[in-house]
Amino acid sequence: MKIVGFSGSPRKNGSTNALIKRILKKAEDNDHDTSMCYLNDFNINPCQACDYCKENEGCDLDDDINELHKLLDNADYVIIGSPIYYGEVSAQTKLFTDRFYSIFNSKTKNFKGKKAILIYTQTNPDPKVYEAYSEHEKKYLYEFMDFDVVDILIAAGVNSKDDLFEKEEILNKADAIGMNI
Ligand SMILES: Cc1cc2nc3c(=O)[nH]c(=O)nc-3n(C[C@H](O)[C@H](O)[C@H](O)COP(=O)(O)O)c2cc1C
Repeated sequence: MKIVGFSGSPRKNGSTNALIKRILKKAEDNDHDTSMCYLNDFNINPCQACDYCKENEGCDLDDDINELHKLLDNADYVIIGSPIYYGEVSAQTKLFTDRFYSIFNSKTKNFKGKKAILIYTQTNPDPKVYEAYSEHEKKYLYEFMDFDVVDILIAAGVNSKDDLFEKEEILNKADAIGMNI
């Protein structure tokens, strides 16, 4: 299977990327084809709600979204990870997911049956603090868009890659998720 990790963290060497890569590595060990996509490297404009996509296929904005949609389209499985910023996903992640709108209106493209793993990293040590937010995203964003959300991993008490590598429980969960792909 083709598995793509989308990261909404601007820190290449941060905890979100490390966690996504860890899952991808396990999937690779199971002979899956994996790749990483760093949203911060792409030019993604905010959705203009122009509704061009209601009358036409795709999006009228001249940026990198078509490239990202191709990656999404070709993936059987996606891992979408974001650091928590003020209780929500990063701006990079939000720009990306708001632009699902043009897929929502597409007559030819959809996310039906595409499996998704959601990853959230946060400094707050309590994994329950933003749990309602991740459940909200699962239901009203990802499932609404027809993704099949198979797992949510909340990495709490993590501010850096070094912090992450001290959290055995989180690493074990990530490994189990990767091995299950
Ligand atoms: C602008 C900003 C806002 C943040 N807001 C929160 C927050 O509301 N709650 C929290 O637990 N951590 C917050 N953090 C910490 C990050 O979620 C945490 O450091 C995360 O692991 C960073 O992931 P990264 O290593 O991939 O960059 C914030 C960090 C930044 C830079």
